[in-house]
Amino acid sequence: MKAGIIGTGHYAPEKVLTNADLEKIVDTSDEWIRTRTGIEERRIASDNEDTSDLAYMAACNALEEAGIKGEELDLILVATVTPDQSFPTVSCKLQDRLGATHAAAMDISAACAGFMYGLITAKQFIETGAYKYVLIIGADKLSKITDWTDRNTCVLFGDGAGAAVMGPVSEERGILSFELGSDGSGGKHLAEENNHIEMNGREVFKFAVRQMPESSVHVVEKAGYAKEDVDYLIPHQANIRIMEAARQRLGIPEDRLAVNVNKYGNTSAASIPIALSESVKNGKINDDNLIVLVGFGGGLTWGAVAIKWGR
Ligand code: UT7
Repeated sequence: MKAGIIGTGHYAPEKVLTNADLEKIVDTSDEWIRTRTGIEERRIASDNEDTSDLAYMAACNALEEAGIKGEELDLILVATVTPDQSFPTVSCKLQDRLGATHAAAMDISAACAGFMYGLITAKQFIETGAYKYVLIIGADKLSKITDWTDRNTCVLFGDGAGAAVMGPVSEERGILSFELGSDGSGGKHLAEENNHIEMNGREVFKFAVRQMPESSVHVVEKAGYAKEDVDYLIPHQANIRIMEAARQRLGIPEDRLAVNVNKYGNTSAASIPIALSESVKNGKINDDNLIVLVGFGGGLTWGAVAIKWGR
């Protein structure tokens, strides 16, 4: 039995915060933010919109695309570092709101790589035959823990949610290979301190430009393909320079790289599934395409998968 993605969804809050808006809050410039990161604007959730609300919207979108009802789900996994509260979990809130009466539910904490951890966890349950349909959501409201006086970090992040429904697919499709990793010794470079994000940008950058290309190549090779066979690369949307490094290492043209960091900034666990869902909806991904998803984040953590698209 092979596990694959059978539906995708995403949601971004309405409120747009542009680089020009940030120029009024901290000592920065549109020029600096665009050239160093590729970010032009990001979305910020309202006070009465919490992580579970973002997650719910993305989940409904993914279930609809998959043609699956809440009650058919066996498991709900929510990757987040900004849950509404520590318990009840965001996944339990969704279990109730989606009417997922037969589903187990748990949150996963692996920062920006959380969605990758969710996909691989779901794959195990499906391929052992224990569960049929699993809903995986990456959702974060980083604006809750952003220090709006720190220009080193506040220009980078945004709020949002992305989701995927996974289920059994035909033998030649689905997740072909994966890699997950962690390095707690680097945890100090990207951490929540006193309810705020603290980051050593240069150290995280160095780690990411090495890890993302390396993991991308590993999963493609493990799947038995050549780097150039990759039809579409969907990296964690943190910084266009890091994403470009991964694309160049694979040796694929620019139009095979998913980019939305300009519109949403870094949405943490939501970034990969938002980009995936948009790519599906924009017709960038078609059946039998070889897709690579790759991410990294606080922990430090990382993960990548190679997927042959389609049911
Ligand atoms: O999901 C994972 C989350 N984190 C990441 O992915 C972050 C990875 N790191 C990065 O993306 C980059 O390191 C940054 C975008 C954070 C920074 O870019 P950089 O090219 O590494 O810049 P830098 O840290 O070397 O800073 C260059 C200068 C510094 O000034 P000095 O010390 O050279 O005088 C900073 O103070 O830019 C200054 N600076 C800013 N200037 C204007 C830092 N932030 C800003 C800002 N506006 N917002």
